[in-house]
Amino acid sequence: MKITMIGTGYVGLVSGACFSEMGSRVTCVDVDEKKIENLKQGILPIYEPGLEAMVVQNHAEGLLDFSTSLARAMKTSSIYFIAVGTPQGEDGSADLTYVITVAAEIGKNLDKYAVIVDKSTVPVGTADKVRATIQKELDLRGVDIGFDVVSNPEFLKEGAALNDFMKPDRIIVGADTESARKVMKRLYAPFSRNRDKVIFMSVRDAEMTKYAANSMLATKISFMNEVANICERLGVDVENVRKGIGSDARIGYSFIYPGCGYGGSCFPKDVKALIRTSAENGFEPDLLNAVERRNELQKLWLFQKIIHRLGEDLTGRSFAVWGLSFKPGTDDMREASSVVLINKLIEAGAVVRAYDPVAMAEAGRVFPHAWFDDGRLVLVDQSYEALDGVDAMVLVTEWKTFRQPDFNDMKARMAKPLIFDGRNQYDPEEVRDLGFEYFGIGR
Ligand SMILES: NC(=O)c1ccc[n+]([C@@H]2O[C@H](COP(=O)([O-])OP(=O)(O)OC[C@H]3O[C@@H](n4cnc5c(N)ncnc54)[C@H](O)[C@@H]3O)[C@@H](O)[C@H]2O)c1
Repeated sequence: MKITMIGTGYVGLVSGACFSEMGSRVTCVDVDEKKIENLKQGILPIYEPGLEAMVVQNHAEGLLDFSTSLARAMKTSSIYFIAVGTPQGEDGSADLTYVITVAAEIGKNLDKYAVIVDKSTVPVGTADKVRATIQKELDLRGVDIGFDVVSNPEFLKEGAALNDFMKPDRIIVGADTESARKVMKRLYAPFSRNRDKVIFMSVRDAEMTKYAANSMLATKISFMNEVANICERLGVDVENVRKGIGSDARIGYSFIYPGCGYGGSCFPKDVKALIRTSAENGFEPDLLNAVERRNELQKLWLFQKIIHRLGEDLTGRSFAVWGLSFKPGTDDMREASSVVLINKLIEAGAVVRAYDPVAMAEAGRVFPHAWFDDGRLVLVDQSYEALDGVDAMVLVTEWKTFRQPDFNDMKARMAKPLIFDGRNQYDPEEVRDLGFEYFGIGR
């Protein structure tokens, strides 16, 4: 099949590459000229395991192409995916500017029946807005061309995106016409060969499904973080409680790891957007408000532990931070807990020596240049180098490489043997026996 993927970020690039991997011809379109130029040369804008090889191979085979011209790409296909960003607006709602801009451009160039697929995460009612925007442009042109707008939210996880897309648990398709359902069923047939994975529903139901899924996962995390806070005050180890409740099939082990808060480009903004949608429709979502608030507080947890132990003025102190991306497997630092922590440490007068296996270049863009220039923030090339002479080590992102470090080497390098473990990666007894002072979450 022939597809135009509009927006070549995490979702657009992964989706485009995976469709081409299954034999479809895909043109990925983006307004970012540099990004498109680089992609043509096999240079990817993001780190995602396996993606580079897939992009390069399918580009070489002529199945995956890149362009800055939507008008030209639209000529070659009749399925247009909208996969642009929907960032958080000032009032917490999803900012639909990019989505509506694309819809208008589609309306200006549409010349045959097409299926327009909303893949971006968008609030209930957005497909209606996309439809109205396209229709308005067609009316202005005085042409009568049929089209369908479909909702097909994406559930991939950064760090495991290829596997999630190639072998999805389910494919949600909100479509209100038979012709659109037929196109979507054919498109996704290669991804659901072992069983039928496409779940059809109305467009509005599909839009809501995405928000409900992310809010449920965020709720599990915030719930467990709340339990951890209670455990800490009771002298209970939350890690034992986690194993105890996770073994209950009704609860399960996933998304119940206590930690220093969730980040990324999805959970924080999607929970906020659903809160906003809910409030706009006359319902105050008490539970979601609490999920959001718990997470904001949880992101401050490490800093609070640090100043409780070392005092509020951290002038002259230095800290090693292990892990900068919002989770392992990605270089994405949007809403990362590391950003909150490092800002707080530097504001309090400390020097930070940070290391991440893949997010170093991204970190160079995220933090103010002045901090690098005057040495308040040092990005080191190697994890152990971060520890040289520091007052404490703070583990923020649970990359596998941090799981079983050489504690003796660590201790020899650090000025003080003090560990703040934001992801409960270490055995408190083991590290204390080795002479460290250890603070974990809820233990
Ligand atoms: N990142 C994830 O893990 C993930 C997972 C599921 C769903 N989503 C959702 O998917 C959507 C996209 O997320 P993302 O992380 O891929 O975003 P992103 O910011 O990485 O990429 C968006 C891309 O769209 C491009 N763009 C903006 N306006 C454009 C236009 N008019 N024409 C063409 N391209 C344009 C930007 O240049 C950018 O490259 C969001 O709604 C997000 O919530 C993201």
